[in-house]
Amino acid sequence: MRHPELFKAIGVKPPRGILLYGPPGTGKTLIARAIASETGAAFFCVNGPEIMSKMSGESEKNLRDLFEQAEAKAPSIIFMDEIDSIAPNRRGGSQGDAGGAGDRVLNQLLTEMDGMSAKKTVFVIGATNRPDIIDPALLRPGRLDQLIFIPIPDEKSRLQIFKSCLRKSPVSRWVDLEALARMTAGFSGADITEICQRACKYAIREEIEKDIARNGMEVEEEEGVAEAEIKVEHFEESMKHARKSISVKDMLKYLSFANSLQQSRGFGSSEFKFNK
Ligand SMILES: Nc1ncnc2c1ncn2[C@@H]1O[C@H](COP(=O)(O)OP(=O)(O)O)[C@@H](O)[C@H]1O
Ligand SMILES: [Mg+2]
Repeated sequence: MRHPELFKAIGVKPPRGILLYGPPGTGKTLIARAIASETGAAFFCVNGPEIMSKMSGESEKNLRDLFEQAEAKAPSIIFMDEIDSIAPNRRGGSQGDAGGAGDRVLNQLLTEMDGMSAKKTVFVIGATNRPDIIDPALLRPGRLDQLIFIPIPDEKSRLQIFKSCLRKSPVSRWVDLEALARMTAGFSGADITEICQRACKYAIREEIEKDIARNGMEVEEEEGVAEAEIKVEHFEESMKHARKSISVKDMLKYLSFANSLQQSRGFGSSEFKFNK
């Protein structure tokens, strides 16, 4: 989006869109929003289920209006969250209405994507937890032809997520975030956020209890706030209730999808060289 002139010079059309896929709670929605603020483009956000739940016939019109507005405000980004509910595999029939509303909305979406003018930069980002049920027509070249896997975070990423969640919170210097990152293998970004929020809640509760012990039910303003801190015990208590929201079985499904995708698109060959 920042370098349309390069695409022109090289003689290709800029990509139209990408699909972010991966387990729930890994930050797909977050990433799309971050991209929007980084690029400074106009940002249009729609939610698949929301579009689909509108009255019959309205969904197509909403999509049409959406793309029209995005073109008018170009350069812009259209973010379609939970796009699987708009574009489920037609043969899969997961909507149970073959030839029905689901099909018409998907067709409208394909029409809009194909019809986008090359001069106006409108970029579509789709996000889904269910890449397996997305209609392959949506993933063809010129549409959402770049698939980007957003996996659950590794240890380094988990540490960053802990730090990012707690960046505004007074955390005791005895709290070892590295150890927390080590112990939370298999946790998603959302799971880690939950751990932090619960620890914060325990710290707040402790302050309130101290306050009550000091003053009875009368809450003195500001008092105690200065020394409020999230301590080791708060994290330990929070970890007791922590849980992984993604099962190993599901994780394997995503990995095997990512692998089969790579296979179907070819691994390429490093053997190829021009004769010198
Ligand atoms: N990589 C991450 N970094 C920081 N926070 C994250 C990350 N992934 C998830 N979260 C937290 O979990 C919440 C849910 O993430 P979300 O983007 O809605 O996940 P998804 O769209 O993949 O299901 C976010 O609002 C954020 O608080
Ligand atoms: Mg999401």
